[in-house]
Amino acid sequence: MKKKDTQYADKLQTETIQELISAAIRARKNSYSPYSHYQVGAALLTADGQIIMGCNIENAAYGPSNCAERTAFFKALSEGNREFLAIAVVGSPEGEVLTQYAYPCGVCRQVMMEFCNPEMFQIIVAQSTEDYRVLTLGQLLPEGFGPENLSPQRND
Ligand code: THU
Repeated sequence: MKKKDTQYADKLQTETIQELISAAIRARKNSYSPYSHYQVGAALLTADGQIIMGCNIENAAYGPSNCAERTAFFKALSEGNREFLAIAVVGSPEGEVLTQYAYPCGVCRQVMMEFCNPEMFQIIVAQSTEDYRVLTLGQLLPEGFGPENLSPQRND
């Protein structure tokens, strides 16, 4: 982990971060990605301590493909969860070895913005349980547009 990221990491215990990364690595094994050959796994931590896993699921028509992060979010949401603390994401071209940090795409960041506080929600991108970065949603989606923008009294 890079030194400058540690200030954001201390809200989550290292043990929790590593548990989420391990779950994301397991989820990645279920990736259905015969077109891009890019495999992604995600593990979402709910406020009540559940870990919900997701993988990317592609489609011959390309458009209906779904990212790992949204798979995890939609699974969790459809089971009634509404509060989330963190998500770990691992992605790399096909194969066992993780060769890069896989940052959530813009669409997934916007989905997170709908349900998560950008200052609090933690996004962990990892290449192993020992090599990761922790960022807030606000760092990845500055000045994001969310449900609060639709409230009439907002004045900033
Ligand atoms: N993908 C994800 O699952 N998450 C990301 O954050 C980036 C991209 C997937 C979508 C597609 O199946 C493959 O990776 C290549 O874009």
